[in-house]
Amino acid sequence: MSETLREVFGEAAVAARVAELGRQVSAHYAGLGVGDGDVVMVGVLKGALPFMADLLRALSFCPSLDFVRVASYGAGTAPGELRFLMDLETDVAGRHVLVVEDIVDTGRSLAYLLSMLEARSPASVKVCALLDKAYRREVDVKVDFVGFEAPPVFLVGYGMDVGERLRRLRGVYELVR
Ligand code: IMP
Ligand code: MG
Repeated sequence: MSETLREVFGEAAVAARVAELGRQVSAHYAGLGVGDGDVVMVGVLKGALPFMADLLRALSFCPSLDFVRVASYGAGTAPGELRFLMDLETDVAGRHVLVVEDIVDTGRSLAYLLSMLEARSPASVKVCALLDKAYRREVDVKVDFVGFEAPPVFLVGYGMDVGERLRRLRGVYELVR
């Protein structure tokens, strides 16, 4: 099987965009007058890991960190049926939640996560995704902070994988087979 990578967003472009997102997110929460610990940054494992780490270091405040893992049920169940593999440890009631995603595609996993979060009475919920395939949406979810509009190709790198490979790449690439 031959496999090549075509650069879509290079390392420098990603780093610059993440720095800009850090400023935007910081300005948003500064505008609400919230400080350290009032914001819970929720990383959606596993793909958000590198983005979350870089975004965290681009912020002007220090949020609490927590993580979730959402997965589709396997074959034999209805498509789009989701479940938690890992839930939050934090009680988000009355706190400002910032969900961090690598990429939003159909929006199904994000919609599922947002409905769960809203039921727990947070002060606010915002979403920051490095990449957005808005034209692929099957359910209506809003991404508040978007790094890049993504082209209609399968992307890898900067946390995104194919069979657990290529997550470590510092840029975003199209996987060409
Ligand atoms: P959604 O529920 O269809 O929006 O898909 C959400 C998840 O699928 C993302 O958070 C990614 O983890 C994964 N995903 C979607 N598109 C891609 C891609 O192009 N490359 C790698 N993972 C992807
Ligand atoms: Mg993801």
